[in-house]
Amino acid sequence: MVEVKNLTKSFDGRIVLNDISTVFETGKTNLIIGRSGSGKTVLIKNIIGLIRPDSGDILYDGRNLTSMSKHDLNMLRREMGMLFQGSALFDSMTVLENVMFPLNMFSKDTYKERQKRAEFCLDRVNLSGSCDLFPSEISGGMMKRAAIARAIALNPKYLFCDEPNSGLDPKTSLVIDDLIHDITKEYNMTTIINTHDMNSVMHIGENIIFIKEGIKEWQGTKEDVITSNNQALNDFIFASDLFRKVREVEVEEMKEAKEAKEGKNPAAANASGTATPADKPTV
Ligand SMILES: Nc1ncnc2c1ncn2[C@@H]1O[C@H](COP(=O)(O)OP(=O)(O)OP(=O)(O)O)[C@@H](O)[C@H]1O
Ligand SMILES: [Mg+2]
Repeated sequence: MVEVKNLTKSFDGRIVLNDISTVFETGKTNLIIGRSGSGKTVLIKNIIGLIRPDSGDILYDGRNLTSMSKHDLNMLRREMGMLFQGSALFDSMTVLENVMFPLNMFSKDTYKERQKRAEFCLDRVNLSGSCDLFPSEISGGMMKRAAIARAIALNPKYLFCDEPNSGLDPKTSLVIDDLIHDITKEYNMTTIINTHDMNSVMHIGENIIFIKEGIKEWQGTKEDVITSNNQALNDFIFASDLFRKVREVEVEEMKEAKEAKEGKNPAAANASGTATPADKPTV
């Protein structure tokens, strides 16, 4: 769990983050959303200790990053995996060498053990056939997967992803979202993702923090997004006709399911294909 308490940050007298308090939960994909320039990247940079906040606290399972020594911060960093915008792979290294890089830096394992760990991580992201290729020889989606493999190489407790889907087509974005979501569950990580991608919000938004002009405007789950009355959130999420239509359908289905559950409108349950609790299939 990562807790942010009353975090404020300004640059040249201009407040970019204003008194942000929130909790990013363990074992969940926590999303930070907001318009371009709202402060998402600055927030992540504060959380990982790349930028010092003007005031406020950042607690990693109770350990306060803002007041710890340089040595403790370096130790804590080893528990963090990072996936930066644009993947940031080293061009001159093969995919395998890229994934081995953090292990070479921080692990005391033998070369064979490090290689085995890197191969395991590449296998986990379905890239075992691409170990010897260079970043310039693989697609954007494969680069993201290689970057994810590198981010999890040291078995982090905390995973940070800044716009993991930037530059990817919608289908590849879903693959990356699923991968991040699945490894979050598998390794019980606290995963924090900055995103613009509304598909991600509705797909893996287990805990969503909406930032507007440096202020935490709203927090909730992807289910809460559908029913929220927050005007700023609705303007942001349902900016497109498509998402407005999706919302209308979702709201209608939720209403019908509720009525069917209360026995008010059993026909609606059949019409919408929604089962009553008694005959709900177990999936
Ligand atoms: N080092 C810096 N010095 C001065 N201003 C900065 C610095 N870093 C960020 N800012 C400003 O802080 C504001 C928030 O920037 P940030 O990068 O966090 O936005 P963002 O929400 O991540 O946007 P995007 O979605 O485009 O990535 C911007 O106005 C930006 O210009
Ligand atoms: Mg950003």
